Amino acid sequence: MSHLALHVNVDHVATLRQARGTRYPDPVEAALACERAGADGITVHLREDRRHIQERDVRVLKEVVRGTYNLEMAAGDDGLVVALAVRPDHVTIVPERREERTTEGGLDAAGQRAALARVVDALRDAGIRVSLFIAADDAQIDAAVSLGADQIELHTGEYADAIGAHRREALAALRRGAARARDAGLRVAAGHGLTVANVVDVAAIEAVEELNIGHAIVADAVIVGLAEAVRAMRGAMVRGRAAT
Ligand code: PXP
Repeated sequence: MSHLALHVNVDHVATLRQARGTRYPDPVEAALACERAGADGITVHLREDRRHIQERDVRVLKEVVRGTYNLEMAAGDDGLVVALAVRPDHVTIVPERREERTTEGGLDAAGQRAALARVVDALRDAGIRVSLFIAADDAQIDAAVSLGADQIELHTGEYADAIGAHRREALAALRRGAARARDAGLRVAAGHGLTVANVVDVAAIEAVEELNIGHAIVADAVIVGLAEAVRAMRGAMVRGRAAT
């Protein structure tokens, strides 16, 4: 049984911070806590609209992450300039539409060859490993190979959203895609929409070496952490009252 790496995406810690414009909660502190708990790496998505992760986060994380540091970005100059300055271990190129709530589909690696080739080549020339976030589709996998990507990340969102026979089909497609990519020499990651409930079947796909999981971990952390946070607040209130 080979090791399956867990990269925790801490974007939504930053979502909470940006909602108030405070200094907390800090995705950097969250990243350290994740690594302390056994995460193999940290992932952040620097979106063009900077809705959660900021450039400061991307820079500071480079200084503190001990495992693999994976920066997700769109295939444009905005992300490229930051990536080349910061030099994370991996860059995952993702499609991005400003109005979307989250990354909705995979990259069209087959249809956007020229635009992607420029960014992939610039990153690889700088010694950064490049991953393309794509659907488990033969044409996309083959395009990732021909673009010279080191890795693909299979989009698990459709699998995560599907039910019944649809889910089984989506899982089978992930399995086939992962095997095809591995056999073509690519390292295979997967992610998006994974939860404690639906990760089990994806973790069973042998060709997948890494999972990137964010929203569900941060959401679960809010729930499991609330009791302790309430006790801490109560303790501070009791101390205040005792001083009167
Ligand atoms: N992988 C990629 C390429 C992503 O864009 C995202 C979301 O930013 C994730 C994984 C994590 O998805 P989720 O937050 O649903 O776990």
